Amino acid sequence: MKNRSSTINIIKRLSLAFSLAIACIPPLTYGMFSYQYLQGSLVTEAEINSRLVTEIINSNPDLWEYETLRLEGILSRRPGSGEKEIRQVVDLQGKIIAESKDTLSPPLIMRSHLIMDSGVEVGRIEIIRSLKQFLLNLGIFCAVGLALGLGIMALISLPIRSLQQAEKELLQSYKLQEETSRLGRVGGWEINIETGEGHMTNEVYRIHELSPDDKMNLADGINFYSESSRPVIEKAIQRAIEENESYDLELEIITAKGNSRNVRAIGIPDLENQRLYGFFQDITEKKKFQETQLRSSQLAALGEVAAGVAHEINNPINGIINYAQLLINRNDENDRSNQILERIMKEGNRIANIVHNLLNFARKDRDEVTSFNLMDIIVEPLNLNAQFFKKDGIHTEVEIPEDLPEISGNKMKLEQVVLNLLSNARNALNNKFPEPSNEKFLVIDAKSTSNQNGGSVQLRIKDSGCGIPKEDLDKIFNPFFTTKEAGVGTGLGLSVSHDILENHGATISIDSQVNKFTQAIITFPVKAK
Ligand SMILES: Nc1ncnc2c1ncn2[C@@H]1O[C@H](COP(=O)(O)OP(=O)(O)OP(=O)(O)O)[C@@H](O)[C@H]1O
Ligand SMILES: [Mg+2]
Repeated sequence: MKNRSSTINIIKRLSLAFSLAIACIPPLTYGMFSYQYLQGSLVTEAEINSRLVTEIINSNPDLWEYETLRLEGILSRRPGSGEKEIRQVVDLQGKIIAESKDTLSPPLIMRSHLIMDSGVEVGRIEIIRSLKQFLLNLGIFCAVGLALGLGIMALISLPIRSLQQAEKELLQSYKLQEETSRLGRVGGWEINIETGEGHMTNEVYRIHELSPDDKMNLADGINFYSESSRPVIEKAIQRAIEENESYDLELEIITAKGNSRNVRAIGIPDLENQRLYGFFQDITEKKKFQETQLRSSQLAALGEVAAGVAHEINNPINGIINYAQLLINRNDENDRSNQILERIMKEGNRIANIVHNLLNFARKDRDEVTSFNLMDIIVEPLNLNAQFFKKDGIHTEVEIPEDLPEISGNKMKLEQVVLNLLSNARNALNNKFPEPSNEKFLVIDAKSTSNQNGGSVQLRIKDSGCGIPKEDLDKIFNPFFTTKEAGVGTGLGLSVSHDILENHGATISIDSQVNKFTQAIITFPVKAK
């Protein structure tokens, strides 16, 4: 592309020089010849006149200066062209002896010739003409030259302009091709089958993380394929060359910088011309996207299966728990089988819990947003725990004012948060007091604040359990942080709760003193009415 523009520039300069030369020819030719003729004719006239004057001098030596009339007679004899002139005879001191004079306008040109008397210089004859006509003509020739030069330049510039236009269009299409190649991560190549040498577009080099100056041939290209892809491409190229078969493959290359890339490699043989043409595309992003889509559709399918399975398990497991409870109720307090039955209930509850979570996960309305009272997200989790609290001897106090403003969000998810906090509190209380105790307290209260932007509703869940050591306080929201025994807790309760609240524009903070209390405070935003 560069060479092309420099050639066009040279042609442009040459055509300018040529036009200039053509423009100079008419005035220069006219000027040179006309001026020489003017000078020559003046000199000849002066010589002729000096010869005639010399005759007068010879016939009348010493007194020739008084022959004014005869001299003037000689001077007034004009050549045929009848051009206006001043002719004058001057003595050695420059005094005019005789003259014949037309009116001339400057600029003027003068030529003179000596007058001799027996070999001695006695005066001069001078002839003067105007240069006006000459300059006028020269001007006309300059104009003619200029017109000629401009005409030629216009003629030459026509093909130059179309050349430039073609070059511009070529450049534009080259840029467009480069840009689309870059955006689509698509390159092309052409290889001579006999030599293995060829040409590749810049994008092919970019995909390989190479510079176009690195110059790659067929063998180099094959070497960039990963261990598993290399035999595949080698075989495909061999078949293309030997059996005239095209190929279209999705393979892996390892770039010059060691990065793995998924590529689509297409090869089309042209055996008549001993050429192999190719298309080369980086499909790494596309592949990733396809994989994520596949994963999310698998997850969705899993969700549906989970919902079905959960439903099926829910009923029998509740039956098992209820029958175990029935048996305990029937047995004596000290019956040894009670322990086993309690274990059955405990494990059964664990299964019910898992199933419950599974159902929650699969429920279609899990993104539904509504407005409700704070109490609506507390009742259900409390009911679910009521049995346990009673059994563990936990005293529960709930003080939620009735006139609290409504909050909005996904009820099910917020219930899950409260359920997590109640379960943590129960765990902490049982930790500190393994037996029922009057000091086993769980307090749930709330208050609201308001300002011109709406204000907030604050929910507090406080327990008098084992508390959280200072060094653990900033870790409790980390996923998988748990102090529960292995297999008991996942350590996900608080981190999931934190995420849910964040998505509702709400915040959670936890404050604690070891062996005294732990309180979680959730602040919900309330919109102005
Ligand atoms: N009310 C609390 N009193 C004392 N420690 C708490 C309390 N709430 C949370 N913690 C501490 O924070 C840790 C993390 O809590 P989180 O709810 O995230 O997970 P987990 O309760 O251990 O497991 P999971 O929620 O899966 O049962 C707990 O293991 C516990 O050490
Ligand atoms: Mg928990």
